[in-house]
Amino acid sequence: MRVLGIETSCDETGVAVFERQRGVLAQTLHTQVDLHAVYGGVVPELASRDHIRLLPALIRQTLREAGLEVADLDAIAYTAGPGLAGALLVGASVAEAMALAAGLPAVAVHHLEGHLLSPLLSDAPPAFPFIALLVSGGHTQLMRVADVGDYELLGETLDDAAGEAFDKTAKVLGLSYPGGPQLAALAAHGEAGRFRLPRPMLHSGDLNFSFSGLKTAVLNVVSSPDWRSEYRTDLAADFQQAVVEVLTAKAVAALERERMGALVVAGGVGANRTLRARLDAAVVRLGARVHYPAPELCTDNGVMIAFAGAQRLMRGERPPADPAVRVRPRWPLAELVRPA
Ligand code: KG4
Ligand code: ZN
Repeated sequence: MRVLGIETSCDETGVAVFERQRGVLAQTLHTQVDLHAVYGGVVPELASRDHIRLLPALIRQTLREAGLEVADLDAIAYTAGPGLAGALLVGASVAEAMALAAGLPAVAVHHLEGHLLSPLLSDAPPAFPFIALLVSGGHTQLMRVADVGDYELLGETLDDAAGEAFDKTAKVLGLSYPGGPQLAALAAHGEAGRFRLPRPMLHSGDLNFSFSGLKTAVLNVVSSPDWRSEYRTDLAADFQQAVVEVLTAKAVAALERERMGALVVAGGVGANRTLRARLDAAVVRLGARVHYPAPELCTDNGVMIAFAGAQRLMRGERPPADPAVRVRPRWPLAELVRPA
């Protein structure tokens, strides 16, 4: 089985071909970071237009690199949500139109399912069931994953997502968009401990998160009369430490509560080295294991969409025969069902 995957939910245009036997045959990715950087965040209309501009060429290039024609494919998978409505519509329209023209099934994939299944592509994949910590620019969730399509939401952020908190705090520290990786780089030169930042909801007794107060706390520090710009690295380190501590504590609590031996970390913030080191240490103490996607699969890409689509088809999902273009900008992951 060979599946073309198309990702256009936000500011990355990703295309890939996944084959059941041989794995990833080809992949292309274009990031719009430079396009949006001058505005300090993603501009939805510009994102849609850029997906339109590049998607057909990226599909041609990916097929060429895989040595395939459209007729060699068994299905086309695309991100149907959650994400920016206009951006999602570009991928959905192209995928549905291609599928209709070639007589192939089109599979609507949930973006977060793509993220959380991507560690299954590694050499030592986790076995079901496991706990997933999804930490991206738009989501912070702990899920109990019993199987493909069997997800139970255990806890989530009540306000900002972890990545969003990184990006907003980076802005406060004068870094450009997307600030998460830059803030992490700044923190590597600093030392945590100079500033006393809150650990929001650390002792809330549930598995929910809150990060907006942390950004405000950082803003208060830089607005105080004692603030000096040479403290930037230390403040970055303290912010990162606070986020990492809360994420780690809740992930460990989820593993203990659900009696699970494996934690899967997915989404852009999963690339954060301090988070990885903290999680590894804490989870080992429980006798459990942490699984990460390959670094290039942590941020948005077409591979995870092709892979998730293939998993669903292999488990018997039969996409609807009518070629309708439908997207779900808001789409709770726990609404998904097992393929049948
Ligand atoms: O999963 P992703 O690529 O896109 C979404 O679906 O949101 O995640 C992007 C988010 C951004 O907020 C970015 O700042 C954050 O992940 N991020 C990081 C790091 N790398 C990416 N945050 C902290 N440390 C990093 N190393
Ligand atoms: Zn994502």
